[in-house]
Amino acid sequence: MNQEVEHRRPAAAAEPFVLGIETSCDECAAAVVTGVPGRARIVSNVVLSQIDLHEAYGGVVPEIAARAHGETIDRVVGEALDAAGVTLDAVDVVAATAGPGLLGGLLVGATFGKALARAKGVPFAAINHLEAHVLTPRLTDGISFPYCVALLSGGHAQFVAVEGIDAYHRLGGTIDDAAGEAFDKTAKLLGLSYPGGPAVEVAARSGDPARFDFPTPLANRPGCDLSFAGLKTAVRLAAERAQPLTDQDIADICASFQDAVARLLERKAGAALAAFAEKVGAPAGHLVAVGGVAANGVLRAALTRAAEKAGAAFVAPPLPLCTDNGAMIAYAALERVGSGVAPDPSQRVRSRWPLDGDAAPLLGKGKRGAKG
Ligand code: KG4
Ligand code: ZN
Repeated sequence: MNQEVEHRRPAAAAEPFVLGIETSCDECAAAVVTGVPGRARIVSNVVLSQIDLHEAYGGVVPEIAARAHGETIDRVVGEALDAAGVTLDAVDVVAATAGPGLLGGLLVGATFGKALARAKGVPFAAINHLEAHVLTPRLTDGISFPYCVALLSGGHAQFVAVEGIDAYHRLGGTIDDAAGEAFDKTAKLLGLSYPGGPAVEVAARSGDPARFDFPTPLANRPGCDLSFAGLKTAVRLAAERAQPLTDQDIADICASFQDAVARLLERKAGAALAAFAEKVGAPAGHLVAVGGVAANGVLRAALTRAAEKAGAAFVAPPLPLCTDNGAMIAYAALERVGSGVAPDPSQRVRSRWPLDGDAAPLLGKGKRGAKG
Protein backbone atom coordinates (compact mmCIF):
# COMPACT_ATOMS: atom_id res chain seq x y z
CA MET A 1 0.00 0.00 0.00
CA ASN A 2 1.46 3.38 -1.04
CA GLN A 3 1.03 6.45 1.07
CA GLU A 4 2.18 9.98 0.36
CA VAL A 5 1.28 12.16 3.27
CA GLU A 6 1.56 15.86 3.94
CA HIS A 7 -0.16 17.19 7.06
CA ARG A 8 -1.10 20.80 6.46
CA ARG A 9 -4.57 22.33 6.32
CA PRO A 10 -5.36 24.71 3.43
CA ALA A 11 -4.95 28.40 4.02
CA ALA A 12 -8.46 29.31 2.92
CA ALA A 13 -11.83 27.64 2.53
CA ALA A 14 -11.54 28.57 -1.16
CA GLU A 15 -9.25 25.58 -1.34
CA PRO A 16 -11.64 22.65 -0.95
CA PHE A 17 -10.72 19.26 0.45
CA VAL A 18 -11.59 16.66 -2.19
CA LEU A 19 -11.81 12.93 -1.47
CA GLY A 20 -11.09 10.90 -4.64
CA ILE A 21 -11.98 7.22 -5.14
CA GLU A 22 -10.67 4.98 -7.95
CA THR A 23 -11.95 1.43 -8.56
CA SER A 24 -12.12 1.12 -12.37
CA CYS A 25 -9.63 -1.74 -12.71
CA ASP A 26 -7.41 -3.59 -10.25
CA GLU A 27 -6.35 -0.84 -7.85
CA CYS A 28 -8.62 0.08 -4.95
CA ALA A 29 -7.50 3.65 -4.25
CA ALA A 30 -8.51 6.73 -2.31
CA ALA A 31 -6.83 10.09 -1.71
CA VAL A 32 -7.37 13.56 -0.33
CA VAL A 33 -6.27 16.53 -2.46
CA THR A 34 -6.66 20.23 -1.77
CA GLY A 35 -5.78 23.53 -3.46
CA VAL A 36 -6.79 25.26 -6.67
CA PRO A 37 -6.48 24.23 -10.32
CA GLY A 38 -2.82 24.21 -11.35
CA ARG A 39 -1.67 24.59 -7.72
CA ALA A 40 -2.91 21.66 -5.67
CA ARG A 41 -1.30 19.26 -3.24
CA ILE A 42 -1.83 15.68 -2.27
CA VAL A 43 -2.69 15.38 1.41
CA SER A 44 -2.94 11.59 1.37
CA ASN A 45 -2.80 8.88 -1.29
CA VAL A 46 -3.57 5.22 -0.55
CA VAL A 47 -3.42 2.51 -3.22
CA LEU A 48 -4.28 -1.13 -2.56
CA SER A 49 -3.23 -3.24 -5.54
CA GLN A 50 -5.07 -6.47 -6.40
CA ILE A 51 -2.20 -7.85 -8.50
CA ASP A 52 -1.82 -10.92 -6.29
CA LEU A 53 -5.50 -11.83 -6.83
CA HIS A 54 -5.25 -11.72 -10.63
CA GLU A 55 -1.70 -12.99 -11.13
CA ALA A 56 -2.67 -16.65 -11.53
CA TYR A 57 -5.04 -15.73 -14.40
CA GLY A 58 -2.50 -13.60 -16.31
CA GLY A 59 -4.93 -10.66 -16.40
CA VAL A 60 -7.64 -8.83 -14.45
CA VAL A 61 -10.74 -10.98 -13.77
CA PRO A 62 -13.70 -8.53 -13.59
CA GLU A 63 -15.77 -10.54 -11.05
CA ILE A 64 -12.81 -11.01 -8.72
CA ALA A 65 -11.91 -7.32 -9.02
CA ALA A 66 -15.45 -6.14 -8.22
CA ARG A 67 -15.76 -8.42 -5.19
CA ALA A 68 -12.36 -7.31 -3.86
CA HIS A 69 -13.24 -3.61 -4.31
CA GLY A 70 -16.44 -4.22 -2.34
CA GLU A 71 -14.46 -5.83 0.47
CA THR A 72 -11.74 -3.18 0.75
CA ILE A 73 -13.26 0.17 -0.29
CA ASP A 74 -14.31 1.23 3.22
CA ARG A 75 -10.88 0.39 4.67
CA VAL A 76 -8.99 2.18 1.87
CA VAL A 77 -11.13 5.34 2.17
CA GLY A 78 -10.74 5.24 5.96
CA GLU A 79 -6.97 4.98 5.62
CA ALA A 80 -6.87 7.90 3.16
CA LEU A 81 -8.80 10.09 5.62
CA ASP A 82 -6.65 8.93 8.56
CA ALA A 83 -3.44 9.58 6.64
CA ALA A 84 -4.73 13.07 5.78
CA GLY A 85 -5.45 13.64 9.46
CA VAL A 86 -9.08 14.53 8.77
CA THR A 87 -12.56 13.06 9.21
CA LEU A 88 -15.34 13.06 6.65
CA ASP A 89 -16.55 16.34 8.15
CA ALA A 90 -13.58 18.11 6.54
CA VAL A 91 -14.38 16.83 3.05
CA ASP A 92 -16.00 19.41 0.73
CA VAL A 93 -16.43 17.23 -2.38
CA VAL A 94 -16.47 13.44 -2.89
CA ALA A 95 -15.27 12.28 -6.32
CA ALA A 96 -15.21 8.78 -7.81
CA THR A 97 -14.34 7.28 -11.18
CA ALA A 98 -17.53 6.65 -13.18
CA GLY A 99 -15.81 5.21 -16.27
CA PRO A 100 -14.36 3.95 -18.48
CA GLY A 101 -13.47 0.65 -16.84
CA LEU A 102 -14.89 -2.58 -15.45
CA LEU A 103 -18.52 -2.01 -14.50
CA GLY A 104 -18.55 -4.02 -11.25
CA GLY A 105 -15.65 -2.11 -9.76
CA LEU A 106 -16.97 1.24 -11.02
CA LEU A 107 -20.33 0.58 -9.36
CA VAL A 108 -18.63 -0.19 -6.03
CA GLY A 109 -16.55 3.02 -5.99
CA ALA A 110 -19.18 5.36 -7.42
CA THR A 111 -21.98 4.04 -5.21
CA PHE A 112 -19.77 4.22 -2.11
CA GLY A 113 -18.70 7.77 -2.99
CA LYS A 114 -22.21 8.92 -3.76
CA ALA A 115 -23.49 7.50 -0.45
CA LEU A 116 -20.74 9.31 1.51
CA ALA A 117 -21.53 12.58 -0.28
CA ARG A 118 -25.26 12.19 0.33
CA ALA A 119 -24.73 11.37 4.01
CA LYS A 120 -22.55 14.45 4.50
CA GLY A 121 -24.59 16.77 2.27
CA VAL A 122 -21.64 17.62 0.00
CA PRO A 123 -21.46 17.46 -3.84
CA PHE A 124 -20.59 14.19 -5.58
CA ALA A 125 -18.38 14.34 -8.70
CA ALA A 126 -18.49 11.47 -11.23
CA ILE A 127 -15.11 11.57 -12.96
CA ASN A 128 -13.86 10.26 -16.31
CA HIS A 129 -10.77 8.14 -15.59
CA LEU A 130 -9.04 9.26 -18.80
CA GLU A 131 -9.63 12.92 -17.97
CA ALA A 132 -8.00 12.31 -14.58
CA HIS A 133 -4.95 10.75 -16.27
CA VAL A 134 -4.50 13.62 -18.75
CA LEU A 135 -4.90 16.33 -16.05
CA THR A 136 -2.29 14.68 -13.77
CA PRO A 137 0.68 16.79 -15.02
CA ARG A 138 -1.15 19.88 -13.74
CA LEU A 139 -1.27 18.26 -10.30
CA THR A 140 2.32 16.99 -10.28
CA ASP A 141 4.11 19.67 -12.30
CA GLY A 142 1.68 22.60 -12.45
CA ILE A 143 1.81 22.59 -16.26
CA SER A 144 -0.37 25.18 -18.05
CA PHE A 145 -2.79 24.43 -20.87
CA PRO A 146 -2.32 23.54 -23.70
CA TYR A 147 -0.10 20.46 -23.75
CA CYS A 148 0.17 17.13 -25.55
CA VAL A 149 -0.35 13.80 -23.76
CA ALA A 150 0.70 10.26 -24.66
CA LEU A 151 -1.72 8.09 -22.65
CA LEU A 152 -0.17 4.63 -22.57
CA SER A 153 -1.78 2.17 -20.16
CA GLY A 154 -3.09 -1.38 -19.91
CA GLY A 155 -6.34 -0.31 -21.58
CA HIS A 156 -5.34 2.67 -23.72
CA ALA A 157 -2.87 4.05 -26.25
CA GLN A 158 -3.69 7.51 -27.53
CA PHE A 159 -2.27 10.98 -28.15
CA VAL A 160 -4.42 13.83 -26.83
CA ALA A 161 -4.21 17.62 -27.19
CA VAL A 162 -5.31 19.04 -23.83
CA GLU A 163 -6.45 22.66 -24.33
CA GLY A 164 -8.48 23.06 -21.14
CA ILE A 165 -11.22 21.40 -19.10
CA ASP A 166 -13.55 19.57 -21.48
CA ALA A 167 -11.35 20.63 -24.40
CA TYR A 168 -9.64 17.36 -25.24
CA HIS A 169 -8.84 16.43 -28.84
CA ARG A 170 -7.74 12.93 -29.66
CA LEU A 171 -4.96 13.32 -32.21
CA GLY A 172 -4.58 9.58 -32.78
CA GLY A 173 -4.84 6.24 -31.02
CA THR A 174 -4.56 2.50 -31.34
CA ILE A 175 -6.67 0.69 -33.90
CA ASP A 176 -6.26 -2.63 -32.07
CA ASP A 177 -4.41 -3.41 -28.80
CA ALA A 178 -3.50 -0.99 -26.01
CA ALA A 179 0.21 -0.38 -25.38
CA GLY A 180 0.25 -2.24 -22.04
CA GLU A 181 -1.79 -5.06 -23.53
CA ALA A 182 0.99 -5.60 -26.10
CA PHE A 183 3.53 -5.90 -23.27
CA ASP A 184 1.25 -8.16 -21.22
CA LYS A 185 0.55 -10.49 -24.16
CA THR A 186 4.25 -10.69 -25.06
CA ALA A 187 5.08 -11.58 -21.45
CA LYS A 188 2.37 -14.25 -21.30
CA LEU A 189 3.58 -15.81 -24.54
CA LEU A 190 7.12 -16.02 -23.16
CA GLY A 191 6.04 -17.38 -19.76
CA LEU A 192 7.02 -14.20 -17.88
CA SER A 193 5.22 -12.92 -14.80
CA TYR A 194 2.14 -10.69 -14.66
CA PRO A 195 1.86 -7.72 -15.16
CA GLY A 196 4.00 -8.15 -18.24
CA GLY A 197 5.41 -4.66 -18.79
CA PRO A 198 7.93 -4.62 -15.93
CA ALA A 199 8.90 -8.28 -16.61
CA VAL A 200 9.57 -7.55 -20.30
CA GLU A 201 11.61 -4.44 -19.44
CA VAL A 202 13.77 -6.39 -16.97
CA ALA A 203 14.31 -9.34 -19.35
CA ALA A 204 15.15 -6.93 -22.21
CA ARG A 205 18.10 -5.54 -20.24
CA SER A 206 20.17 -8.65 -20.99
CA GLY A 207 18.86 -9.04 -24.54
CA ASP A 208 19.96 -7.99 -28.03
CA PRO A 209 17.46 -5.51 -29.56
CA ALA A 210 18.94 -6.14 -33.03
CA ARG A 211 18.46 -9.93 -33.09
CA PHE A 212 14.85 -9.85 -34.35
CA ASP A 213 13.70 -7.33 -36.92
CA PHE A 214 10.14 -6.85 -35.63
CA PRO A 215 7.72 -4.66 -37.61
CA THR A 216 6.53 -1.20 -36.53
CA PRO A 217 2.93 -1.25 -37.82
CA LEU A 218 1.58 2.00 -39.36
CA ALA A 219 4.98 3.68 -38.77
CA ASN A 220 5.28 4.87 -42.34
CA ARG A 221 1.65 5.97 -42.68
CA PRO A 222 0.80 9.63 -42.12
CA GLY A 223 -0.92 10.56 -38.86
CA CYS A 224 -0.39 9.29 -35.33
CA ASP A 225 -2.64 6.25 -35.07
CA LEU A 226 -1.00 3.22 -33.48
CA SER A 227 -1.23 -0.53 -34.01
CA PHE A 228 0.32 -3.38 -32.05
CA ALA A 229 -1.46 -6.45 -33.46
CA GLY A 230 1.06 -7.16 -36.26
CA LEU A 231 3.92 -6.80 -33.81
CA LYS A 232 2.26 -9.29 -31.47
CA THR A 233 1.95 -11.83 -34.29
CA ALA A 234 5.61 -11.33 -35.28
CA VAL A 235 6.65 -11.95 -31.66
CA ARG A 236 4.57 -15.13 -31.52
CA LEU A 237 6.07 -16.46 -34.77
CA ALA A 238 9.63 -15.67 -33.62
CA ALA A 239 8.98 -17.45 -30.31
CA GLU A 240 7.56 -20.49 -32.10
CA ARG A 241 10.56 -20.68 -34.46
CA ALA A 242 13.09 -20.43 -31.62
CA GLN A 243 11.54 -23.30 -29.57
CA PRO A 244 12.70 -24.53 -27.12
CA LEU A 245 13.32 -21.03 -25.76
CA THR A 246 16.46 -20.37 -23.73
CA ASP A 247 16.67 -17.45 -21.29
CA GLN A 248 18.80 -15.64 -23.89
CA ASP A 249 16.13 -16.18 -26.59
CA ILE A 250 13.51 -14.69 -24.24
CA ALA A 251 15.74 -11.73 -23.42
CA ASP A 252 16.46 -11.11 -27.12
CA ILE A 253 12.76 -11.29 -28.05
CA CYS A 254 11.89 -8.86 -25.22
CA ALA A 255 14.65 -6.43 -26.21
CA SER A 256 13.69 -6.56 -29.90
CA PHE A 257 9.97 -6.15 -29.10
CA GLN A 258 10.61 -3.21 -26.77
CA ASP A 259 12.89 -1.62 -29.37
CA ALA A 260 10.15 -1.89 -32.01
CA VAL A 261 7.59 -0.27 -29.65
CA ALA A 262 10.10 2.50 -28.87
CA ARG A 263 10.76 3.19 -32.58
CA LEU A 264 7.01 3.23 -33.28
CA LEU A 265 6.25 5.55 -30.37
CA GLU A 266 9.10 7.93 -31.20
CA ARG A 267 7.84 8.28 -34.73
CA LYS A 268 4.17 8.59 -33.79
CA ALA A 269 4.85 11.02 -30.93
CA GLY A 270 6.61 13.21 -33.51
CA ALA A 271 3.53 12.99 -35.73
CA ALA A 272 1.26 13.74 -32.75
CA LEU A 273 3.26 16.87 -31.90
CA ALA A 274 2.94 18.02 -35.53
CA ALA A 275 -0.83 17.34 -35.42
CA PHE A 276 -1.01 19.23 -32.10
CA ALA A 277 0.59 22.33 -33.67
CA GLU A 278 -1.92 22.23 -36.50
CA LYS A 279 -4.94 21.70 -34.25
CA VAL A 280 -4.00 24.18 -31.53
CA GLY A 281 -2.29 26.73 -33.77
CA ALA A 282 0.95 26.71 -31.78
CA PRO A 283 3.65 24.14 -31.03
CA ALA A 284 3.28 22.12 -27.82
CA GLY A 285 5.46 23.29 -24.93
CA HIS A 286 5.19 19.89 -23.23
CA LEU A 287 4.79 16.26 -24.18
CA VAL A 288 3.51 14.34 -21.15
CA ALA A 289 3.51 10.55 -20.78
CA VAL A 290 0.92 9.03 -18.42
CA GLY A 291 -0.28 5.47 -17.79
CA GLY A 292 1.62 2.44 -16.51
CA VAL A 293 3.60 1.98 -19.74
CA ALA A 294 5.18 5.39 -19.13
CA ALA A 295 7.22 3.61 -16.44
CA ASN A 296 9.35 2.04 -19.17
CA GLY A 297 12.79 3.65 -19.36
CA VAL A 298 13.45 2.80 -23.01
CA LEU A 299 10.06 4.18 -24.07
CA ARG A 300 10.58 7.31 -21.99
CA ALA A 301 13.90 7.88 -23.77
CA ALA A 302 12.18 7.49 -27.14
CA LEU A 303 9.44 9.97 -26.21
CA THR A 304 12.05 12.39 -24.87
CA ARG A 305 13.84 12.31 -28.26
CA ALA A 306 10.56 13.00 -30.08
CA ALA A 307 9.75 15.91 -27.74
CA GLU A 308 13.21 17.46 -28.07
CA LYS A 309 13.04 17.26 -31.85
CA ALA A 310 9.77 19.25 -31.76
CA GLY A 311 11.12 21.77 -29.23
CA ALA A 312 8.88 20.48 -26.41
CA ALA A 313 9.87 19.48 -22.88
CA PHE A 314 9.17 15.87 -21.92
CA VAL A 315 7.31 15.34 -18.63
CA ALA A 316 6.44 12.08 -16.88
CA PRO A 317 4.67 12.34 -13.50
CA PRO A 318 6.16 10.25 -10.66
CA LEU A 319 5.30 6.60 -11.22
CA PRO A 320 2.67 6.18 -8.45
CA LEU A 321 0.75 9.04 -10.09
CA CYS A 322 1.26 7.72 -13.67
CA THR A 323 -0.58 4.52 -12.76
CA ASP A 324 -4.11 4.36 -11.33
CA ASN A 325 -4.64 6.30 -8.09
CA GLY A 326 -7.26 8.28 -6.18
CA ALA A 327 -5.31 11.55 -6.18
CA MET A 328 -5.85 12.06 -9.91
CA ILE A 329 -9.60 11.51 -9.45
CA ALA A 330 -9.76 14.04 -6.61
CA TYR A 331 -7.67 16.49 -8.64
CA ALA A 332 -9.90 16.20 -11.74
CA ALA A 333 -12.89 17.09 -9.54
CA LEU A 334 -10.95 19.99 -8.05
CA GLU A 335 -10.17 21.28 -11.57
CA ARG A 336 -13.81 21.05 -12.59
CA VAL A 337 -15.20 22.65 -9.45
CA GLY A 338 -12.48 25.34 -9.48
CA SER A 339 -13.04 26.26 -13.12
CA GLY A 340 -16.82 26.26 -12.92
CA VAL A 341 -17.26 23.25 -15.23
CA ALA A 342 -18.92 21.12 -12.56
CA PRO A 343 -19.28 17.41 -13.30
CA ASP A 344 -22.79 16.22 -14.19
CA PRO A 345 -24.24 14.81 -10.92
CA SER A 346 -26.56 12.52 -12.89
CA GLN A 347 -23.65 10.90 -14.79
CA ARG A 348 -24.08 7.12 -14.68
CA VAL A 349 -21.18 4.66 -14.56
CA ARG A 350 -20.00 3.72 -18.06
CA SER A 351 -17.71 0.90 -19.20
CA ARG A 352 -16.84 3.03 -22.24
CA TRP A 353 -16.53 6.78 -22.01
CA PRO A 354 -14.34 8.38 -24.69
CA LEU A 355 -12.49 11.50 -23.65
CA ASP A 356 -13.10 13.19 -26.95
CA GLY A 357 -16.77 12.59 -27.74
CA ASP A 358 -16.40 14.25 -31.15
CA ALA A 359 -13.61 12.00 -32.44
CA ALA A 360 -14.60 9.13 -34.73
CA PRO A 361 -14.27 5.73 -32.99
CA LEU A 362 -11.00 3.90 -33.69
CA LEU A 363 -12.43 0.61 -32.44
CA GLY A 364 -15.88 -0.96 -32.23
CA LYS A 365 -18.73 1.40 -31.45
CA GLY A 366 -21.94 0.33 -29.77
CA LYS A 367 -24.57 1.70 -27.41
CA ARG A 368 -21.89 2.31 -24.79
CA GLY A 369 -19.71 4.46 -27.08
CA ALA A 370 -16.41 3.84 -28.77
CA LYS A 371 -13.91 1.42 -27.26
CA GLY A 372 -10.42 2.66 -26.44
O1 KG4 B 1 -2.02 2.67 -16.01
P1 KG4 B 1 -1.94 1.27 -15.49
O2 KG4 B 1 -1.34 1.04 -14.14
O3 KG4 B 1 -3.36 0.61 -15.43
C1 KG4 B 1 -4.32 0.80 -16.40
O4 KG4 B 1 -4.26 0.08 -17.41
O5 KG4 B 1 -5.18 1.71 -16.23
O6 KG4 B 1 -1.14 0.43 -16.59
C2 KG4 B 1 -0.87 -0.93 -16.45
C3 KG4 B 1 -0.12 -1.38 -17.69
C4 KG4 B 1 0.05 -2.89 -17.76
O7 KG4 B 1 -0.30 -3.35 -19.05
C5 KG4 B 1 1.55 -3.06 -17.50
O8 KG4 B 1 2.11 -4.22 -18.12
C6 KG4 B 1 2.12 -1.78 -18.09
O9 KG4 B 1 1.19 -0.78 -17.72
N1 KG4 B 1 3.44 -1.48 -17.56
C7 KG4 B 1 4.56 -1.41 -18.31
C8 KG4 B 1 5.63 -1.19 -17.41
N2 KG4 B 1 5.11 -1.09 -16.13
C9 KG4 B 1 3.76 -1.27 -16.25
N3 KG4 B 1 4.74 -1.56 -19.63
C10 KG4 B 1 6.01 -1.45 -20.08
N4 KG4 B 1 7.09 -1.26 -19.29
C11 KG4 B 1 6.95 -1.12 -17.96
N5 KG4 B 1 8.03 -0.93 -17.18
ZN1 ZN C 1 -5.61 4.15 -15.78
